[in-house]
Amino acid sequence: MANSLFRTKSISHILEESEKGITDAHKHTLHRVLTVRDLTFFGIAAILGAGSFSSLGGAVFHGGPGVVILFVITAIACAFTAFCYSEFASRIPVAGSAYTYAYASFGELFAWIIGWALIMEYSIGNIYVAYSWSDYFTSFLEKCNIHLPQYLCTSYMEVKHALNDGSTNKEVLDTWNNAPMIGGLRMIFDVPALIINLLITYLVFRGIRESRNFSNVMVMLKMIVVTLVILVGGYIVFSHGLTFNWHPANDAGVKSFMPNGFGGVMAAVSGVFFAYIGFDAVSVLAEESKNPQRDLPRGMILSLVICTVVYILLTLVLTGAVNYRNFDGVGDPLAFIFEKQNLNVGWMQFFVAIAAVIAMTSVLLVFQMGQPRIWMSMSRDGLLPPVFQKIHPKFKTPSFATIVTGLVVGIPILFTDKTFVLDFTSIATLFAFVLVCGGVLLIPRREKEQGRFHIPYINGQYVFPLIVIAAFGTAMYLSKTYVSDLFNFDFSSNKDYVSGKISFMDAATPNITLIIFWLSAIMISVFAFIKKYSLIPLMGLITCMYLLTGMTKSNWAWFLSWLAIGLIFYFLYGYKKSKLASKK
Ligand code: ALA
Repeated sequence: MANSLFRTKSISHILEESEKGITDAHKHTLHRVLTVRDLTFFGIAAILGAGSFSSLGGAVFHGGPGVVILFVITAIACAFTAFCYSEFASRIPVAGSAYTYAYASFGELFAWIIGWALIMEYSIGNIYVAYSWSDYFTSFLEKCNIHLPQYLCTSYMEVKHALNDGSTNKEVLDTWNNAPMIGGLRMIFDVPALIINLLITYLVFRGIRESRNFSNVMVMLKMIVVTLVILVGGYIVFSHGLTFNWHPANDAGVKSFMPNGFGGVMAAVSGVFFAYIGFDAVSVLAEESKNPQRDLPRGMILSLVICTVVYILLTLVLTGAVNYRNFDGVGDPLAFIFEKQNLNVGWMQFFVAIAAVIAMTSVLLVFQMGQPRIWMSMSRDGLLPPVFQKIHPKFKTPSFATIVTGLVVGIPILFTDKTFVLDFTSIATLFAFVLVCGGVLLIPRREKEQGRFHIPYINGQYVFPLIVIAAFGTAMYLSKTYVSDLFNFDFSSNKDYVSGKISFMDAATPNITLIIFWLSAIMISVFAFIKKYSLIPLMGLITCMYLLTGMTKSNWAWFLSWLAIGLIFYFLYGYKKSKLASKK
């Protein structure tokens, strides 16, 4: 049994299947129309969205201007990971992304786990974006004097959680009290989020050509407006002498770039990482690219570089324009800085609201296209029922899988909330990134081929262990009590723990995850030394693992439960129906 769980598909086998279209029952294949420019645009379309327009507010509130450091760390982690995705994408240019790559490196069980985790990234992530889209859309309508009842544009769980937390916010109370009731249940749901999901599902169903044109226009518009925010906001920050906001005072009155310390910066991991998710979505378009081996890596890396520059500048403008504490609960930070009490530029608020709606529409589009293509690959391998690989005869899109994606995004919109889906998406995506970087270490090295992307091989034998030692040394240098804090499970000085706000496990999770992280780093260093592993994937692996240490106990609990459900499905269906099982 152990052998069959780790049965791998050889790369040549995957390519052969893709060539043949492997659609025994459905002879239709996808259109190859995308160029490097389209792929870069797709990358930007997927990356730049709710992360910058919405979750950036919460991130800045936790970490202050120092969140810029987290953006840089996350960009480095994503860049290393993008190299790994590119290596895989150039060797295995078929739809399926990380799922397909895991099949070729770690074997079937991990491939299934990744495919399952990617549902979090592509579908659940889109729920967050749909909620954020709705926030900006309704505030745009407000500016046009169109007022929707609050109970028709808010998620039920958001109101419920706010009330449970003792919120006295008038808007929350009004939403609850004014909502009509049916059979004892208050009718509170986010109609704009549901409608945008429906429209996007329809567009993706209709076909890649239409989706591409639509997406390219949206990317250009959002880049123009984001550039305007940076230029106008940046100009005012300097001309009004607001740069002192980059060194704000914390509760103790100490002024710092990181007012809540590095812990405060790390508390923003989910929001910051979410902002970067999307460059990997480019890889699912392998079968629709004209020259996937050359263009997929270029598209991924180019889009990542462009968005990193944008994020760093945006964070600096935001934290320069307004004191970081004022971002508490702000869901539209880019518009917020231009409000009357802040920089007071009315026309920018209007532009930002339009751009946000556009930016998020493009994110929704790319992710909604990615999910069915991953399911299509899983179905080809027998891990999902054959109907998931059905391609529409006229539109040439994975029709059934597209409709199921619409449902998987749409139904939870009725009973989840933003914070929950943001955390869930980030932890699952980081987990998938860890496996992709680890996977590259396991596939055999190959000769360089002209015109194909190739991760430059830098021997990590000595360098990697030295980097780990240097990182540990730096941590100890920056905090003299780093090691004792790591093993300190006496939380009597933790205010939240003493007041009962958080449990012992909540307080202990950062220590536990950091201890596991350092132990893993030692283990990976030993392997790197013995096997002379390549440095770039090693760095991708370790930086993504480090970002995982920022996740809370409840993130882990939800994620592990999700994986457990996935394993039940695998053993009930995929394990038996796998194409590799029938080959024995
Ligand atoms: N990175 C994407 C966004 O920020 C998911 O919306």
